[in-house]
Amino acid sequence: MSAWREWQEAPWGRLRYVVGEVNLVRHLDDLADGPLRVLDLAGGDGGDAVRLAARGHHVTIVDHAPTMLAAAAERADAGGLAELITCVQADMHALPADLAAGEFDVVLCHNLLQYVDDVRQTLSSALGPLRAGGLFSVMAINRHSAPLTVAVREMDLVAAMAALDTDQARTQTFDAALTLHTAEEIAPVLEELGCREVRHYGIRCVCDYVTDDERKHDPAFYNSLERLELAMTARHPYMHTARLFQLITRRHEK
Ligand SMILES: C[S@@+](CC[C@H](N)C(=O)[O-])C[C@H]1O[C@@H](n2cnc3c(N)ncnc32)[C@H](O)[C@@H]1O
Repeated sequence: MSAWREWQEAPWGRLRYVVGEVNLVRHLDDLADGPLRVLDLAGGDGGDAVRLAARGHHVTIVDHAPTMLAAAAERADAGGLAELITCVQADMHALPADLAAGEFDVVLCHNLLQYVDDVRQTLSSALGPLRAGGLFSVMAINRHSAPLTVAVREMDLVAAMAALDTDQARTQTFDAALTLHTAEEIAPVLEELGCREVRHYGIRCVCDYVTDDERKHDPAFYNSLERLELAMTARHPYMHTARLFQLITRRHEK
């Protein structure tokens, strides 16, 4: 848990939440003027939820880890947002009936896909509680970034070559096995599941390829990096090799 919080507060963690929020907000404004009902699946300790609640939206976080939910509730309290954030302990593949039938305006599924066995099943479960016309945001580690980060950061060219032909990797934060995907693979699955207008954003197009991590803590450098990341997130070709992809789409059919 402390390694996770440390990662979130590091420049690269901050960028992940800042850019993800800016991308979402571009689309939320088209949805409605007032507060929205948001379901954050595998929402962890509320990194996305607190940002959306701070904008006045009602967010329900579902996670199967009680420690994550306790941390999310603590964050909500500390931010004076407890009335806008509800925490529910559940497996996102077997939601309580009221949530499954919830007809939410927005559903998030951020940084879960790399841990699941059946991506299609997870996306289908995630879309179930979303109303027709509602907004879905999915974010995951981008497989295209794996050989590049190994080559640039570790300067291990043999490992980089091997990373070209595998979808398997390990996370340092959780020491867990990962299966990596690409936006090009996930977008058609979303379309098959009834989504339209899938928009692709890249998160951390540059950050992970700048090897001087210390420098990123310098506020002036960080501010420039954040501005650059925001300028690149929706730009071809940079999003294709970003560390994470974010796909934001509308559900057209139920
Ligand atoms: C890498 S964290 C991401 C948290 C959050 N979405 C974010 O991006 O900050 C993955 C989260 O998924 C949760 N999780 C994994 N499988 C789950 C499942 N089947 N149902 C609910 N939560 C799950 C874990 O407990 C963890 O909090």
